[in-house]
Amino acid sequence: MVSRKPLVAGNWKMNFDHIEATYFVQKLAWILRDAHFSYRNCEVMLMPPFTSIRSVQVLIESDRLKLSYGAQYVSVTNQGAFTGDVSADMLAALGCSYVLVGHSERRKYHPEDDANIVDQVRAVLAAGMKPILCVGESFEERRQGIELEYAVGQVHDVTRDLSDQQASELVIAYEPVWAIGSGMVATPQIAQQAASAIRSHLRSEYDDNVADRVRILYGGSVNPSNASELMASGRDIDGFLVGGAALDAEQFATIARLT
Ligand code: G3P
Repeated sequence: MVSRKPLVAGNWKMNFDHIEATYFVQKLAWILRDAHFSYRNCEVMLMPPFTSIRSVQVLIESDRLKLSYGAQYVSVTNQGAFTGDVSADMLAALGCSYVLVGHSERRKYHPEDDANIVDQVRAVLAAGMKPILCVGESFEERRQGIELEYAVGQVHDVTRDLSDQQASELVIAYEPVWAIGSGMVATPQIAQQAASAIRSHLRSEYDDNVADRVRILYGGSVNPSNASELMASGRDIDGFLVGGAALDAEQFATIARLT
């Protein structure tokens, strides 16, 4: 059985300019450096807006901080006349390790369908980074009782043509849409059940090594008061994708400590 290092990822969404981002990273580093503050078992990662990635990179590299960072979106094309886009190679050149793909806010506010999400996953992998694929049902699917089929179906639609090697590089974030930014966190049972269904699906489509290696995160109203219980809910949840609470260095650090 492969052991998976938990991951706590902070998705800043469209928050913090580069000066605020610098201040945040300095504060987070100061908290995490405290000798009494133990988060050694988990990888802590930040996903700033494009405009702050370079500032975050410089701080992390110059202070040798044990923090990873990534981007919230990537273009499916590599270069050329695509005004406003940012390529996977550009992100990799900035030292990004991860890129968020298929977040429900991107699916809702931008024309991102499964085909486009598949291409983003491939672009991220080709540039040597890891995609964090976001899936999760809306309240309507849950009301109909089809939430697991829906979330697993989203995983299937994006990953079905990946090789074992490519699939093993994925991180999957189960983020029920109704829990995002609503304060209505999923119960630990709901989170574990979805993570377990996603892992079983990977086991049926790929070899055991893939199913055992892929980290599955929970996202949706995670905060310092619910992180421990969610982590303890079962063996399929490997950390969190945090939104609102990732904008507060103390709250974010506390979530990392509890993971
Ligand atoms: O990607 C993280 C996110 O969508 C969850 O946001 O604010 O509910 O933690 P939040």
